[in-house]
Amino acid sequence: MYAIEAEGLEKEYKMGLISKRRVKALRGVSLRIRRGTLYSLLGPNGAGKTTLVKILATLLIPDAGWARVAGFDVAREAVEVRKRVGVVLGGERALYWRLTGWSNLWFFSQLYGIPPGEARRRIRELIELVGLQGWEHVRVENYSKGMKQRLHIARGLLNDPEVLLLDEPTIGLDPAAAKEVRGLIRRIVAEGRTVLLTTHYMAEAEELSDRVGIISGGRIIAEGSPGEVKKIIGGRMVVVSLTGHPREASMLATLLGARARSIDGVIAIEAMVEDEEEFIDKVLGEALRRGLRVRKVEVREPSLEEAFIRLTGEGQ
Ligand SMILES: Nc1ncnc2c1ncn2[C@@H]1O[C@H](COP(=O)(O)OP(=O)(O)O)[C@@H](O)[C@H]1O
Ligand SMILES: [Mg+2]
Repeated sequence: MYAIEAEGLEKEYKMGLISKRRVKALRGVSLRIRRGTLYSLLGPNGAGKTTLVKILATLLIPDAGWARVAGFDVAREAVEVRKRVGVVLGGERALYWRLTGWSNLWFFSQLYGIPPGEARRRIRELIELVGLQGWEHVRVENYSKGMKQRLHIARGLLNDPEVLLLDEPTIGLDPAAAKEVRGLIRRIVAEGRTVLLTTHYMAEAEELSDRVGIISGGRIIAEGSPGEVKKIIGGRMVVVSLTGHPREASMLATLLGARARSIDGVIAIEAMVEDEEEFIDKVLGEALRRGLRVRKVEVREPSLEEAFIRLTGEGQ
């Protein structure tokens, strides 16, 4: 039923041989991901995302806790896990730029011991899946960033894995290339695979996921469907548009713990609050006192990004 299960995972890095400095990257991560679903792990830099992905891919051994991927234990049955998992690490230069896309996939297929006939068939399918038809015999150095990333994902799929782990698959891509990669991820899930992706892009998690986990400081601090994650936070986003003296508006914002943004002479006072009526009353009262004119009041659901900022107290 679960493609990925983890309980109480902990990992500490020791910095250097002599220095005793230690970094606790994971502080007890538990996770359940159903077969055939897409789970996004959302968190800022340093949250522990890559460490978790590496443990699930059997590239790192946890200090405490256990994890099962595709039914096998990552520590005791690593060989079985590796047959069933594909991993694409962000920022990793795992492709040979002097070789063509086809040659890269061929090289890795042979490294993984895939029989030649099967490898050729698989590579043809993958080239099509990732939309690189017509480019397979061009050297990777001539590919765009988005094409390299799609080839990279194809590499992760060579062993026809049940579970695909994607570490920040759209980082550094322009919006159009990122959109193509998201489309590809959707096709991969539609094929029946389970995908765990890490991201610090809220919109990406919101758009793609069945479930979202928010990780910060080595802990999963909230989890649910994208809608539920927003509900856990329970806040509402209030935006009050004002005109008048910017200094008065900025003082008003500071006083009420809100943010002030100026767009074309209109100042937007923004805050995520529990009680929107109380907040609006306060803004109206202060605005009157400070000679500011209220133009518009909007109340809406926070986006996952806004929810995330509030939960972790951090920006992107
Ligand atoms: N090889 C390493 N040696 C020492 N510290 C590391 C190493 N890799 C990661 N860390 C530290 O562990 C924490 C979690 O890192 P990481 O798992 O890469 O987070 P994320 O992928 O969410 O940015 C960070 O504080 C990071 O600096
Ligand atoms: Mg990372």
